[in-house]
Amino acid sequence: MLKLLTELAQHVADGLSRVPKALSSKYFYDDAGSRLFQQIMDLPEYYPTRTEFAIFREHGAAIAAALSPAAGGEFALVELGAGDGAKTKLLLRELLAAGTAFTYAPVDISAGAMTGLVDSLRRELPALRVAPVVADYATALTQLRTQPGSKAVLFLGSNIGNFHPAERLDFLRQLAAPLTPADRLLIGFDLQKDPRRIRAAYDDAQGVTAAFNLNLLTRLNRELGADFDLAHWQHYTDYNPLSGAVRSYLVSTRTQQVRIQALDETVDFAAWEVIHTENSYKFTLPQIEALAAEAGLRVVASFTDAASDFADVVLTAQEE
Ligand code: AVI
Repeated sequence: MLKLLTELAQHVADGLSRVPKALSSKYFYDDAGSRLFQQIMDLPEYYPTRTEFAIFREHGAAIAAALSPAAGGEFALVELGAGDGAKTKLLLRELLAAGTAFTYAPVDISAGAMTGLVDSLRRELPALRVAPVVADYATALTQLRTQPGSKAVLFLGSNIGNFHPAERLDFLRQLAAPLTPADRLLIGFDLQKDPRRIRAAYDDAQGVTAAFNLNLLTRLNRELGADFDLAHWQHYTDYNPLSGAVRSYLVSTRTQQVRIQALDETVDFAAWEVIHTENSYKFTLPQIEALAAEAGLRVVASFTDAASDFADVVLTAQEE
């Protein structure tokens, strides 16, 4: 029988037939996953969000100036993966205070997160022009290509760290392609630091990150009619200081079979077999310079916190 599979179903069919099994962290962000990620950002161990916040608080005016077109005039401030927009609001306030003419175009894959963001912007910044887009990165990149006029693109929170290196370069090249040398791109990179601090950020004491990872299985149960029994799955994470990668896994704690109705398939898991669910890469400043150059970009300015835990890097397209 020929079945039409949803994108998620197709992904799960591919990912669970690989060795080792793997699923993309892109599917963490259903509405429950987005809410759990909000909680992660407040955890004592999860330093990236509050550190990027501190950078924006301290350097907000300079960052806003670095993003505004030198020649003045109207521009679109496009944010990929806007989430709750908490950090961006600092920047939006700076831009509004400077009398800059711009439209804020937040893009997020979660409709729930977007509704919350738009409501809060209407309340807190009524003068702001907002053009929200609920879409994934691929759709957002396509829209960016047809976006008229000047633009500044935000990609904050070290979302760039969730790409596999080959996909990261490809993504950056696609981001760079529609940019003119007058346009700007701001990317937040989590920097390499004490490996123990990094590992703890992805294995918090309250178990919120574990719930976030396991929520992927709850999503597959709900959306694909799977029967993952969460009592027999664990969250596991490690950090490799050589590659700079945090890798997260779902671990099957016993031999088990999982039925996935939407695929009309049963998947076997050995005891302690893992599903790789996420990469979170950490960078050095020289790596960022090299990555930018490879993608056809150039670093214009770079803002870090006092401890150099995190960097917000302003980039532009290399001149032809
Ligand atoms: C969204 N992204 C940048 C987060 C990160 O740090 O990789 C997602 C996350 N995964 C576990 N904790 C947070």
